[in-house]
Amino acid sequence: MSDFDFDVLFIGAGPGGYVGAIRAAQLGLKTACVESRATLGGTCLNVGCIPSKAMLHASEYFDAAANGSMAKMGVEVTPKLNLEAMHGQRRDAVSQLTGGIEYLFKKNKVTWLQGHASFKDAHTVEVDGKTHTAKEVVIATGSSVTPLPGVEIDNDKGVVVDSTGALELPKVPKNLVVIGGGVIGLELGSVWRRLGANVTVVEYLDQLLPGMDIDIRKEAAKIFKKQGMDLKLATKVTGVTVRGKTATVTVEPAAGGDAETLKADCVLVSIGRKPNTQGLGLDNIGLEPNERGQIEIDGQFRTSVDGIRAIGDVVPGPMLAHKAEDEGIAVAEWIAGEVGIVNHDVIPGVVYTWPEIAGVGLTEEAAKDKGEIKVGKFPMLANSRAKTNHEPDGFVKVIADAKTDRVLGVWCIASVAGTMIAQAAQAMEFGALSEDIAYTCHAHPTHSEAIKEAAMAVRGKPIHM
Ligand code: FAD
Ligand code: NAI
Repeated sequence: MSDFDFDVLFIGAGPGGYVGAIRAAQLGLKTACVESRATLGGTCLNVGCIPSKAMLHASEYFDAAANGSMAKMGVEVTPKLNLEAMHGQRRDAVSQLTGGIEYLFKKNKVTWLQGHASFKDAHTVEVDGKTHTAKEVVIATGSSVTPLPGVEIDNDKGVVVDSTGALELPKVPKNLVVIGGGVIGLELGSVWRRLGANVTVVEYLDQLLPGMDIDIRKEAAKIFKKQGMDLKLATKVTGVTVRGKTATVTVEPAAGGDAETLKADCVLVSIGRKPNTQGLGLDNIGLEPNERGQIEIDGQFRTSVDGIRAIGDVVPGPMLAHKAEDEGIAVAEWIAGEVGIVNHDVIPGVVYTWPEIAGVGLTEEAAKDKGEIKVGKFPMLANSRAKTNHEPDGFVKVIADAKTDRVLGVWCIASVAGTMIAQAAQAMEFGALSEDIAYTCHAHPTHSEAIKEAAMAVRGKPIHM
């Protein structure tokens, strides 16, 4: 009989914490999960992945009707926007999915301790005045919006907002300025552009989407420009002032030069997210975040303090829900005495714009730094399904080791790139060669055939190009 209230206690019920808690309970551990929000699911289900995808999906329909792509296929409609109904279906998706996690907690006998957790000592956590002990504690507190110094976010007023405010706008802005051309800026900028806003994206770097393959970044910029987004690359925001319902954004070239101002009725600040470590009582356990505010861990997710592990957005690595989920499963397995593995070299990333943008593994630049490579590319224009569906934009790129042919990275822009990238991740996880992908039978006609053709192109022998 353990002296502790719980075998394991997770702090945070996002995709890291809730998935970890369910797996721990499945493995027979007495498990608790502390969550301060009124609903489970963390950033992802409440204000992140799910509501943004609900708005992206619905606005895609509106755009297809409004921009003539449906008419091209013989379906002539004049769309009328019911924004309240669009928000309603978003809220429904969120409440059904967060309710689903509550059901799974009950089913698996995970105790939800509702409230804010802070450490008293390494095995004692206080939740709103009550203490709970656990043999192992897992910090899964996630991340929150990085503020832009000097710029005040006020989601209630709806003039200068973060991603949470941008999901809830009560009307379509006339002019939306997006600060930061990363994933959030492009996804939520796309939502409001499709619904009628003039969107200007101000990005500090000379290309959008840092971290992605350079060909992908350049192609994405071309596509977003064609869709009507105004991209101000290599440009920094030096200030935002708000008067009434109008914001004035002052920008200047990142390298220095003349300033200019942009007027907007809405400004979205999306310059990244920072790990949540404040208010956790880390001082009480002698745990200090690194210079980037992250909690450092080893291969078993152990922090420098015995009995305390950490997963998800609060630790180094990409801030992605599926990475947090996989770490949740793995940490529970270690705690239960099993081996839990997350291959951090094979974590796909997807931007859910139109078309979608996805990648896994090394960029061409990073692969080249490691040695000689071969690259195969195939345009979506030459893929029969994409062509038939009037989806000509994008390409697939397969990067392989020149000597061993082992696949090092796969990148794609395609309407369903997020779905296509799964096969690339699986192939890489199994150590596939580009030849393995090239000789795997792919159903016809599918967008995924472009991955097979790009793999064939690694040896210079695609069929349809
Ligand atoms: P979180 O989901 O942030 O959960 C942490 C939870 O801990 C929160 O609910 C918080 O309330 C709780 N908490 C924090 N401190 C305490 C405390 N002291 N006591 C009690 N509770 C506490 N990722 C994708 O992979 N795909 C996407 O499409 C995607 N879309 C996104 C869209 C947006 C707009 C945003 C903002 C993010 C998106 N992300 C997406 C990122 C994804 O949401 C995160 O990577 C993921 O939620 C991280 O999971 P986590 O469990 O580490 O933390
Ligand atoms: P991000 O890191 O993707 O992009 C931020 C961008 O802002 C960068 O391009 C950066 O160069 C730029 N920037 C920083 N400071 C700036 C300044 N002062 N002026 C102009 N530009 C500036 O961060 P974002 O978009 O906020 O997303 C946060 C996290 O959420 C990401 O790490 C991402 O992993 C996750 N996310 C994932 C999604 C997905 O998987 N589809 C969707 C949304 C978010």
